[in-house]
Amino acid sequence: MLYTTSRIKAPASACRKLRQRGLAPTAQAALAHLRDTVGVRVICAFQDDVYQMARYLEERPAFAVLQTKDYISRPKENGYRSYHLILGILDGPGKGATVEVQLRTIATDCWASLEHQIKYKRQVPHEGLVREELKRCADEIASVDLSMETIRELLEGA
Ligand code: GTP
Ligand code: MG
Repeated sequence: MLYTTSRIKAPASACRKLRQRGLAPTAQAALAHLRDTVGVRVICAFQDDVYQMARYLEERPAFAVLQTKDYISRPKENGYRSYHLILGILDGPGKGATVEVQLRTIATDCWASLEHQIKYKRQVPHEGLVREELKRCADEIASVDLSMETIRELLEGA
């Protein structure tokens, strides 16, 4: 693992999601009904490390695995790749809360940050072309990730 970042869902975004579901826009409702009020991102060097860290978290007795989404083995249509975990905290200070953990390589994190910026732009010129090119970049990055992993294996085997 290289590093982690974390965020608490912005109040405006939490309220929007709660209203959409017909729930009261309160902190209690957010913690009880939204699974991504607390978000943690785990950035790894290699794809292998992503899966190792995911297994590690999934096996911790202090967490209940409520959901997993493997967008690495099954990337989203736009090329997005990450491993998502929704964890319920069973023990310790956060007991009762849920956390969304996104695990990805540093290269795919770079792509996701850029794609996120574009996604939230109101008007994207050349939208179709931008989408196509982003997808191409995502696939190239995935291919680079695999090459890097192969290089690591070669070095470790040497
Ligand atoms: P949300 O309602 O957006 O939370 O989606 P979801 O509940 O269907 O869950 P999903 O696991 O697909 O996505 C959860 C989070 O992953 C999002 O809030 C983003 O932070 C991230 N994510 C998912 N898809 C994409 C994507 O296509 N691009 C980027 N940049 N981030 C994504
Ligand atoms: Mg979500």
